[in-house]
Amino acid sequence: MKQFISTDDVPSVPRLVDIALNYKKDPFRDNTLGQHKTVGMIFLNPSLRTRLSTQVAAKNLGMEAVVFNIDKEGWQLEMNDGVVMNGNTSEHVKEAAAVMGQYFDILAIRTFPGLKNKEEDYTEKYINQFIKYAGVPVVSLESATLHPLQSLTDVITIKENWQQPHKPKVVMTWAPHVRALPQAVPNSFAQWMNAWGEADFVITHPEGYELDEKFSGNARIEYDQDKALEGADFVYVKNWSSYRDYGKILNTDSSWMVTNEKLKHTNAAKIMHCLPVRRNVVIADEVLDGPQSIVIQEAGNRVWAAQAVLSEILKG
Ligand code: CP
Repeated sequence: MKQFISTDDVPSVPRLVDIALNYKKDPFRDNTLGQHKTVGMIFLNPSLRTRLSTQVAAKNLGMEAVVFNIDKEGWQLEMNDGVVMNGNTSEHVKEAAAVMGQYFDILAIRTFPGLKNKEEDYTEKYINQFIKYAGVPVVSLESATLHPLQSLTDVITIKENWQQPHKPKVVMTWAPHVRALPQAVPNSFAQWMNAWGEADFVITHPEGYELDEKFSGNARIEYDQDKALEGADFVYVKNWSSYRDYGKILNTDSSWMVTNEKLKHTNAAKIMHCLPVRRNVVIADEVLDGPQSIVIQEAGNRVWAAQAVLSEILKG
């Protein structure tokens, strides 16, 4: 694997899932693969799981991980080419990415969307500038439109919780939130569900929250949440802001929050969320603290997803 930005970079999703699950069984099987190699983890935005799980994954492979919170500790970056840099930006991404490419064997980056300029976000301007100038493989730690390490984790988690011969019904439901959030997690989950192809995949949300069809693909869209949840084996809960009315909050209806009442017509569905989650806004306490929640197992699986990706890039 040459980079890890989306499913397009993955020759076989099922194979990558198996590699991750094998690391879960035997974390140190390749503990010298990353010897004398370093991954630079560059954060333009906050993180708990992505940062820590990727550091642990690198350690399991014998690899050094260097974390740089560039938003707080670095020079303010200029991302536009050909500009006169007489404003607030001090260093151009051309130099910053190229210099980091001299220090690291893999460059991993988190860069959220601004949610103001749809074209800038959906052309992945920021991460593409790093890819263009780094000269080493780039791993997304969540970009403007996708969060592939999270989605690989989610596929792993569904697979290990499903032993039936038929496909599980997986429902991704929008839920309310107090802030405008990116579409990266739902876009990515949809992209990976479609690429994996081992689930009956449904998306439910209020009108106006349709995702870019480039990502939702063949998913069935159902505007009635109760109807969508009927018979669900997995419920993936997430808020996102509108793609159509870009970056806007169009709906604050608290009846979309996931409660035990909402889940009663599911097939005792397992509840997933990428975390962090706002309790009693997105998902009720009774669900997060109940037996159907697998959010902690899901977050734990972030290590194996990161380890699979780093190992495939090291081998590639
Ligand atoms: N799910 C996720 O990416 O968590 P962090 O933002 O804490 O890394």
